Amino acid sequence: MSIRFDNRVAVVTGAGGGLGKAYALLLASRGASVVVNDLGGSRSGEGQSSKAADEVVSEIRNKGGKAVANYDSVENGEAVIKTALDNFGRIDIVINNAGILRDRSIARTADSDWDLVHRVHLRGAFQVTRAAWPHMKKQKYGRIVNTSSVAGIFGNFGQANYSAAKAGLLGFTNTLAIEGERSGIQANIIVPMAASRLTQDILPPELFDGLKPELIAPVVAWMCHEDCPDTGSIIEAAGGWAGKYRWQRSQGTLLMDDLSENITPERVRERWAQIVDMQGGDFPTSNQGATMDLVGKMEKLTSSPDSTQIQGDLMSAI
Ligand code: NAI
Repeated sequence: MSIRFDNRVAVVTGAGGGLGKAYALLLASRGASVVVNDLGGSRSGEGQSSKAADEVVSEIRNKGGKAVANYDSVENGEAVIKTALDNFGRIDIVINNAGILRDRSIARTADSDWDLVHRVHLRGAFQVTRAAWPHMKKQKYGRIVNTSSVAGIFGNFGQANYSAAKAGLLGFTNTLAIEGERSGIQANIIVPMAASRLTQDILPPELFDGLKPELIAPVVAWMCHEDCPDTGSIIEAAGGWAGKYRWQRSQGTLLMDDLSENITPERVRERWAQIVDMQGGDFPTSNQGATMDLVGKMEKLTSSPDSTQIQGDLMSAI
């Protein structure tokens, strides 16, 4: 059976070009009603225009699809979601994709470079999601895809502002996955790599032409579908390839042999190789799982009454 989005309403932010446009076109071609949001500003977030969103809406309509434009900044999430509610009566899918770049090395990063990048990527995703959330909760259904970046996972020279915002989206999405679980709301992350105006001077020219946004759109469309089983996943996609990231934690080591010992910096130095040795590490998938596992590691110290207290404190903290 083909993947369809009939009777589903999607908001795609920053859908006037690049990846967002490819997402909007694909969802609409599969039956979704789409709000094409785009502020229409420059790559670094200056100015605004209705042109980009209007062109994508025309393209969708010319192909027989359903779409309306919204020109608000994602910072005004209520207005973006209101466009979906006013025109289509509901909201099922949010793809937080809008983005800008203000690359500077850390010492040259002005407050405004930091703030605007955070306002668009992180705060914008928050504003749009929060506006959609009560509607999704009420209908017990929602699909949210947030957009991170390898810069958010690994950092990147000249992108302290952007990588911090993109890493923020990882934590944000994981919490949405937890809070949405009982309400049929799933939230995942896409880590794309594609040719767009954001990457035209970053990606090597020989790669650029092959990295079409259209190759990522099917991955994101599946992540928005009701049958997609994942929530809280980080999916990377580029040039016809897709894969998943996960966290790994080393086995680590206890820093004391019993609780009466003091931990000194010298002891940490002595055991550093064991702390950072990833051989045999595990792959925690949740806050609770990671903490319970930690409690298990501390069980070696259980003979002491103090350790029972520590474990009790930990258990009540999670
Ligand atoms: P793009 O520049 O073609 O698309 C971004 C769109 O967002 C633009 O049309 C822009 O007008 C819009 N936008 C900017 N600020 C806005 C605001 N405040 N409100 C509403 N719309 C706004 O860039 P691209 O590459 O398609 O980027 C899409 C997303 O993917 C961004 O979040 C970007 O950070 C992310 N990304 C892209 C990668 C790539 O390889 N192209 C790599 C990693 C992440």
